[in-house]
Amino acid sequence: MSAPAKAPTTAGGRETWTSSTGFILAAIGSAVGLGNIWRFPGVAYESGGGAFLIPYLIALLTAGIPILFLDYAIGHRYRGAAPLAFRRLAKRAESLGWFQTALAFVIATYYAAVIAWSCSYFIYSFDLRWGEDTLKFFTGEYLRVGDPEISTSIVSAVALPLVLVWVAVMIVIALGVTKGVQSVNVLFIPMLAIAFTGLVVRAVTLPGAMDGLNALFTPDWSKLADLSVWIAAYSQIFFSLSIAFGIMITYSSYLKRKTNMTSSGLVVAFANSSFEILAGIGVFATLGFMAHQQNVAVGDLEGLTGPILSFVTFPAVINQMPGGNIFGAIFFASLIMAGFTSIISILLGVAASIQEKFGLSQKSSAILVTALCAIPSVLLFSTTSGLLALDTVDQWANNIGIVVSAIAMTVLVVWVFRKSDVLAGHLSAVSTFKVGRIWRFLIGVLAPIFLTVMLVDKVVALVSEGYEGLPQWYINVFGWGTIAFIVLTAVIMAAIPWKGRDDESFVAWPQLEEEDR
Ligand code: PFF
Repeated sequence: MSAPAKAPTTAGGRETWTSSTGFILAAIGSAVGLGNIWRFPGVAYESGGGAFLIPYLIALLTAGIPILFLDYAIGHRYRGAAPLAFRRLAKRAESLGWFQTALAFVIATYYAAVIAWSCSYFIYSFDLRWGEDTLKFFTGEYLRVGDPEISTSIVSAVALPLVLVWVAVMIVIALGVTKGVQSVNVLFIPMLAIAFTGLVVRAVTLPGAMDGLNALFTPDWSKLADLSVWIAAYSQIFFSLSIAFGIMITYSSYLKRKTNMTSSGLVVAFANSSFEILAGIGVFATLGFMAHQQNVAVGDLEGLTGPILSFVTFPAVINQMPGGNIFGAIFFASLIMAGFTSIISILLGVAASIQEKFGLSQKSSAILVTALCAIPSVLLFSTTSGLLALDTVDQWANNIGIVVSAIAMTVLVVWVFRKSDVLAGHLSAVSTFKVGRIWRFLIGVLAPIFLTVMLVDKVVALVSEGYEGLPQWYINVFGWGTIAFIVLTAVIMAAIPWKGRDDESFVAWPQLEEEDR
């Protein structure tokens, strides 16, 4: 029997992706997720339709791609998950790494729940188990949604698939970067691309599809004057590209020494946005069909965003479609594949952070961290108050947590620790496409100013208006409590002495700049 092939490593013994294609597929896998399929179409529709593409593109070009490059540069140069990478950048920056890791941890807890719902709905597609009243089925029979409270009654139909999702995540993370994460992506990303393209082709050939596309793409220019539309665009880009969560830092830390990072980044960003637009087309063509069946305008349909769009409106359309079962099964399978390749990126990042801090083995930290994330995930999100908690935590994590993280990262790296020159040099030394003054202006000036204005606006709105009419105590626990948890984790984890490999002896890729000149 031949010995199992060993995973590739760098000279320093750090595991690496086998090729840049492996890395690109994994980075696309992280980026393309539930955010593309269930969030983008609804956000775009509500935020001005075709006109939304303007703030979306501006957010992509001025913040998305530049911060993606920043994540890559930090991870590759300092070769660590976020806490170690920031610690190597400057000792005092370690807590920023933990802030990002904690944010990613929180997101994973509820993201897994949506993948679990998709697993159930994949099976329900075969016999259209949701029946005629899909809203009643989703919130009543399936989720058994109750009042805003801290519920302890677990819904087994959700808990069971959720536990299975966590077991699958644990196995993949324990297998490591190449055998686990890379293999899953190499398999799922092409499958997802084929399955989803098939869905879109079917959707655009349905009667009424064009009305749906008109509803999505007809620009409402007046929305551009609304600051909240810009916030929606920036949040969508951050969430969608998986940036400022420490996750892309971790992914790029597993790159080989010579890797063309800027080109890879452009490929990833382009693939992610293309998938987003494709999902918008697929979803709205399908909604056009529904409106056509009901003889109403697309704008009069209800439930065009978030969980309701995928789990209530879509099943209703599937009911009316010839061959709906297959369409439904492929749709939910796509959600599962897209979501799974994203959640493993998060867990890999969190597990690597703990592994490096405490000097644990890769396997034990994978198992420990996945279990630590799975417990609150099941206890909070498979109860009768799971849907409400999910919506609230998501609102705070994505509109406040991620924006704070991006502001802190850009200001600290550029202005406090003054590393933008070094990082620009690093990126340029390994990449064909050079970054320089424009990049430094975008990450050092434009992005932090824009993001701060947005953050203030959002905080004022949430403080003064509350959220979705929820009671204040609930908002304090699940909304502001989420932010408090992340900040506390950052402070406590950074205060614990570093037990892993001595970072003092670390040398950034030796003489990289000189050698490559
Ligand atoms: N980018 C993923 C999506 O669009 O669904 C979600 C995500 C993955 C967010 C990884 C954050 C992260 F670190």
